[in-house]
Amino acid sequence: MNPGPTTPTSDRVTILAAADPRAVAQAADVIRAGGLVAFPTETVYGLGADATSGVAVAKIYQAKDRPQFNPLISHVPDLAAAEREGLFDAQARALAEAFWPGPLTLVVPASPTCRISDLARAGLPSVALRVPAHPVARDLLIAAGLPVAAPSANRSGRISPTHAAHVMGDLDGRIDMVLDGGPTQVGLESTIVACLPEGVRLLRPGGIARASIEEVLGAPLLAAATDAGVTAPGMLASHYAPHARLRLNATQVEPEEAVLDFGGRFAHVQAASFDLSPRGNLVEAATHLFAFLRALDATGAETIAVAPIPHDGLGEAINDRLARAAAPR
Ligand code: TXA
Ligand code: MG
Repeated sequence: MNPGPTTPTSDRVTILAAADPRAVAQAADVIRAGGLVAFPTETVYGLGADATSGVAVAKIYQAKDRPQFNPLISHVPDLAAAEREGLFDAQARALAEAFWPGPLTLVVPASPTCRISDLARAGLPSVALRVPAHPVARDLLIAAGLPVAAPSANRSGRISPTHAAHVMGDLDGRIDMVLDGGPTQVGLESTIVACLPEGVRLLRPGGIARASIEEVLGAPLLAAATDAGVTAPGMLASHYAPHARLRLNATQVEPEEAVLDFGGRFAHVQAASFDLSPRGNLVEAATHLFAFLRALDATGAETIAVAPIPHDGLGEAINDRLARAAAPR
């Protein structure tokens, strides 16, 4: 099948299909033909294209309306496939063995056999690789037989999608296909760790907590270099922005405010409110974060009061996303 060029108009038909084996096979054909498929991973829905084709990768930026070419994560079915594209030292291999398949992305030097296009790598000598755990993602990657570049499947500046309906809301008419695999499990993007000659750095907190990674390394992660020569991951301040203004670490709720609660702190306040985890569980909170931000935004409230959220475990990544969503834009 030939999905043709992706245009930013809404005259293109986007196929929405339950992720059964037939639909997955069709999606793999679309990717091999240079088209765009949104698919579930355990973190968020990704917008996938053939990572080896600069033309296919360019369609991702066009569909997302992304103003800049930041480097993208390439998804592969297993460590062997990853080692064809990147060079894994002992630390990178230890992390891959501990956390793949799963919500960890490793930035490693590109290997001499690397096929990932310059555009997907933004011209860098390194490459970002991830082996997702979601069975639909795995089946798609195996069927496609190619590394699949996939940022989150949302329009630029919008909230990352954790349901197929979120993807359709942002990208219907702009991409070829959406594989519906139900809500995602983790709800936050992957943790990104760079294993480069300079050392092992945390580039983006995410679905695997810092402490779990440091336990495998037996050493603390270095902080992301502030003068990083690369587009710092997810560093666009408005990257996760809802339309409403976010007021973080709220200790009380003002009239007219909607509420993003945690641990039932504001359970008795009369307001449009969603509790990330009434029992104060950070893993549960991560799974709800993006969907609840969308839902609160849809109420039309101008300000969302956000309860304080602890910083341990997945709290680091949750607070990171909230800080970006609250940043002035
Ligand atoms: O959970 C996830 O990671 C989701 C799902 C779909 O897998 N994907 C995702 O991809 O968030 P993306 O492409 O939006 O995230 C790419 C991030 C960017 O912030 C980019 O700066 C960083 O990874 N990155 C990619 N390649 C890099 C490189 N060579 N060096 C440094 N950072 C890199
Ligand atoms: Mg994103």
